[in-house]
Amino acid sequence: MTEPLRLGIAGLGTVGAGVVKIIRQKANLLTARTGRPVVITAVSARSKDKDRGVNLSAYAWEDDPVALAKRDDVDVFVELMGGADGPAKAATEAAIAAGKDVVTANKAMLALHGQELAIAAENAGRVIRFEAAVAGGIPVVKALTEGLAGNQIERVMGVMNGTCNYILTRMQSTGLPYDQVFEEANQLGYLESDPNLDVGGIDAGHKLALLASIAFGTQVAFDGVDLEGIGQITIEDITQAADMGFRIKLLGVAQMTARGLEQRMSPCLVPADSPLGQLEGGTNMVVIEGDHVGQIVLRGAGAGEGPTASAVMSDVLDIARGIRVCTFGQPAKTLECAKAAKSTTPAPYYLRMDLHDKPGALAKIATALGEAGVSVDRMRQYGHEQTSAPVLIVTHKTTRDSLDIAIKSFAATGVLASNPVTIRIETV
Ligand code: NAP
Ligand code: HSE
Repeated sequence: MTEPLRLGIAGLGTVGAGVVKIIRQKANLLTARTGRPVVITAVSARSKDKDRGVNLSAYAWEDDPVALAKRDDVDVFVELMGGADGPAKAATEAAIAAGKDVVTANKAMLALHGQELAIAAENAGRVIRFEAAVAGGIPVVKALTEGLAGNQIERVMGVMNGTCNYILTRMQSTGLPYDQVFEEANQLGYLESDPNLDVGGIDAGHKLALLASIAFGTQVAFDGVDLEGIGQITIEDITQAADMGFRIKLLGVAQMTARGLEQRMSPCLVPADSPLGQLEGGTNMVVIEGDHVGQIVLRGAGAGEGPTASAVMSDVLDIARGIRVCTFGQPAKTLECAKAAKSTTPAPYYLRMDLHDKPGALAKIATALGEAGVSVDRMRQYGHEQTSAPVLIVTHKTTRDSLDIAIKSFAATGVLASNPVTIRIETV
């Protein structure tokens, strides 16, 4: 029989336990598909005694994931602990130095250290694969590195944090305010232990930076992602945007422009009837546009035991089959260091503000927009009983700079009763 592929798994939480279950339940299927058995030889976690719902007695135990990574009976180090630095990075480095391939679900580690780890792996003749790190069960890394390798990628965008999409769509369907829905998500266990990773857009920003590297042949640059979370989104924005035919999404967009690499992870309006607009709950969606393929849309579970373990297995099985793709789709030393775009591609914007209810108020705002070169597409004033009136404006495509000039000049009109809220409208 062909030599087995021997795994050492560090991290036996949600994802790690899921991987162990697949390997135990599907041994024959995996062997049939790869031509060799895939076996676990050793595992590691913090607590040896914890019940993980799966029998681990056949595997050697290591308290120290670095020791696990160096074991002679491990061919592939499967890193499922998490954390950008600390044991995850130390054990990954140790594995590469000891001549092991690495499979990881750790977007934080790769978004911050991906370039140096990929170089180290390639110098050692090893691979690091990370399908599970982006959009859970959706095979988007494979789609970009392999299925779409013949295309110049023009744009990658998507909803890559299920928790934020759950919060935004739940606000939409119930009319409940952000704080209440955030608390619900917390009770349901959806939030990361540091919730700001989710609602601050950081987790999704890590994922976008990884996809941008593959898509544009550039070194992963998380510090180039323009980040804004969903904490400022109010129920008024959700309902009034819906009234104008839009949904609000925490949307990641990466595109290469003449001004440099644009990477944004921020709340955006998308048409309610678009695939992104229709995306409900904790589901993820990634939209990729290539020069030959056109637009493709990938949708599926972005997190959870089964979907994430499924993605880990995709990488493990590639290694078992002898498929060895560079971490970011091409040798890491050939990845360019992209200049970050200092300004964003022009777009239409949604503006919401309260105006003092007096003659000429709307005209003053319209004049300020016109003087800044911002053209109005649609404008709506809502019925009201107070002395101020809620007003919504949708602009035609404009630069963010022009919009900021207009907003600055709103103050001088003396008609503003609240600070304007602005949200970009993304063309999808
Ligand atoms: P988790 O449930 O918190 O599990 C983490 C595991 O790592 C636990 O088994 C823990 O041990 C172990 N661990 C932590 N520190 C360790 C250390 N110093 N030494 C040895 N073991 C250590 O996390 P998870 O949800 O499975 O996530 C794992 C990775 O997958 C992360 O990088 C995460 O971002 C990524 N990911 C997760 C999902 C998801 O849906 N959960 C989706 C996509 C990607 P104990 O169990 O003994 O505490
Ligand atoms: N916190 C992440 C999410 C988990 O909500 O999508 C998967 O990375």
